[in-house]
Amino acid sequence: MPATTKKGTKAAVQKKRKKPVVQIRVAEVRLKNKVAAQKARLEILKAMEEMGRLLSSTLDDREVRKRAMESATRLMRSEVGSLLLIDPETKELFFEVALGDKGETVREIRLRPGEGIAGWVVETGEAQSVNDARTHPHFFKSADEKSGFVTRNMICVPVKIREKMVGVLQAINKKRGKFTDVDLEGFKSLAGQVAIAIENAGLYKELKETFLSTAAALGDAIEAKDAYTGGHTKRVLEYSMVVGKRLGLSQEELDQLKLAAALHDIGKIGIEDRILGKPSRLEPEEAQMMENHTVIGAKIVENIRPLRAIVPGIRHHH
Ligand SMILES: [Fe+2]
Repeated sequence: MPATTKKGTKAAVQKKRKKPVVQIRVAEVRLKNKVAAQKARLEILKAMEEMGRLLSSTLDDREVRKRAMESATRLMRSEVGSLLLIDPETKELFFEVALGDKGETVREIRLRPGEGIAGWVVETGEAQSVNDARTHPHFFKSADEKSGFVTRNMICVPVKIREKMVGVLQAINKKRGKFTDVDLEGFKSLAGQVAIAIENAGLYKELKETFLSTAAALGDAIEAKDAYTGGHTKRVLEYSMVVGKRLGLSQEELDQLKLAAALHDIGKIGIEDRILGKPSRLEPEEAQMMENHTVIGAKIVENIRPLRAIVPGIRHHH
């Protein structure tokens, strides 16, 4: 057998032996990457569970927005997280609040429809992970110029309530490395949770406003019946709020005080018109009947569960 053939055979054998080694290494790397991705997914899932609880544990819309931004920053391990909401009138996107070192400075920035990467996400409805933001065609330099913030990379996902776009959730500048596909997946889930929390808080706010305006309408009805006191309920309400704020009452306590003030004379519904409208001094018997309006009012209100807390306010307002 010629020498060259022998050599050729040896090389072929070596090649055959090397191939599995290379393949094993490639498989090892792939497996490592898969494990790393699964680990990252697991971490995101764990964090999501906690953030979901945090988001759903409040019905205060402002608090929901604050928690959404904190969650975005923490989940993506980024420098800044922000929630941009669509102004229903102008269709502009605005940074309502932004957390992080430069958070306060980007607070007032507004984007016209379609402007910036966030505007582009609203237009397309597609989530975006941009790892070189400054060279991106949709990057909005003015936001950085105004805030003095340097955006390196960004992850931006739409926030939709029942398929209706209400804003975008954004995380800027990952502290280590770049945003990955696993990040994008996790961030989309967070945006879903944020949307649910925003919707719940919005519905609660609407319900609360309806309730307060119904109470105010009842207050007006009492005024209409007892026009003699001219604007008395409104004045009591205004003074009560001033005093309540001065006393440092919580928002919940102020809301109750507002209700108690609006409805404090509701018992006058049960007082005869001839007594309510009597222009001259009341007889002792009539005065006693008139004084009874606090008891009547308390009885009316104590049957309405959400109003039980204000019963003492009505019963003892004189
Ligand atoms: Fe009264």
